[in-house]
Amino acid sequence: MGMKRIAVLTGGGDCPGLNAVIRAVYKTAQSYGITVYGVRNGFRGLVEADVFLLGPEHISGILPRGGTVLGTTNRDNPFHYPALEAGQVVYKDVSQTVIANLHKYEIEALVVIGGDGTLNIAGEIADLGMPIVGVPKTIDNDIAYTERTFGFDSAVSVATDALDRLHTTAESHHRVMILESMGRWVGHIALHSGIGGGADCILIPEIPFKWESIINKIQARQQAGKNFSIIVVAEGAKPFDGEITVARVIEGSPEKIRLGGVGERIAKEIEQRTAIECRTTVLGHLQRGGSPTPYDRILATRYGEAAVTTLVQKKVNKMVALQNDRIIAVDLKDVVGKPNPVAVDHQLVLTGRALDICFGD
Ligand code: F6P
Repeated sequence: MGMKRIAVLTGGGDCPGLNAVIRAVYKTAQSYGITVYGVRNGFRGLVEADVFLLGPEHISGILPRGGTVLGTTNRDNPFHYPALEAGQVVYKDVSQTVIANLHKYEIEALVVIGGDGTLNIAGEIADLGMPIVGVPKTIDNDIAYTERTFGFDSAVSVATDALDRLHTTAESHHRVMILESMGRWVGHIALHSGIGGGADCILIPEIPFKWESIINKIQARQQAGKNFSIIVVAEGAKPFDGEITVARVIEGSPEKIRLGGVGERIAKEIEQRTAIECRTTVLGHLQRGGSPTPYDRILATRYGEAAVTTLVQKKVNKMVALQNDRIIAVDLKDVVGKPNPVAVDHQLVLTGRALDICFGD
């Protein structure tokens, strides 16, 4: 007998394409005669047994829609779950409640759509005996064993559009315009949008930058009659001899550090050293909101279909992944905890260098 009931859950930060995956999971499951439960609010929904039967009314029209139809998405972790005891927040392992609730609804497998934090939790749930298939979600593209996470292309598209717009205003004011992108500890968004948007400097965490290198680039452009420059900097980029720039520390969160502010730091330094006016644009959550690009809709749809087909083929504890333009299933345990940084000899870095783009080194 094949599988009869599965559930789908979204975890971590939101990302364009979540709904496209949910839709594809539902539609594919329908074609195999499998019932799908939606889990509200990430893993919290499994702790609180907050699940509902997905139906066509939840799915209709959601392909192009940002956000998630599964309530909120968040970073709640059942292995480190907050509870109030005697007026104090204490953290408990409530993973057995998750398993009990899954059994209560006779759910035989779980499709978990998430980034590395969520997939990590999914791996631990798999260790407790619940079959899992993960779907790699994040604008950061920082998940190992897949060439693309869905959401990344949409973020790159927003950042590239921003660079186009910054070009004309930079030119009109003879300024240095700095665009700070998201990406956490990796520079994929900055690298791709920097190439797509024609940046003069691309600064990424994988290549620590030297101030002189950036200044030299700006001055060389001035000497060549180009009185403006465009810099794209990933939020996790740092000077060769300095530290990352932390925007906030969120106590109790599994990922405590939120990065941000490096763009303004760079602007101040350039102004001090060159007397050229600088302005910084921090793109922030604009990169995560709104409608997914066609590429992301297609990728998310392929991932959703493949997740269910993987389960039907009785392959469990996998993550669907894109390799050589094919969707395959890799072992979840191989993926979790592995970073996916930009290789310093990535072809796009080499292309950028050939085009005389400064990487700050
Ligand atoms: O991982 C996605 C991401 O958008 C990162 O690029 C960014 O550093 C972080 O999440 C921001 O998190 P939050 O939405 O909690 O501010």
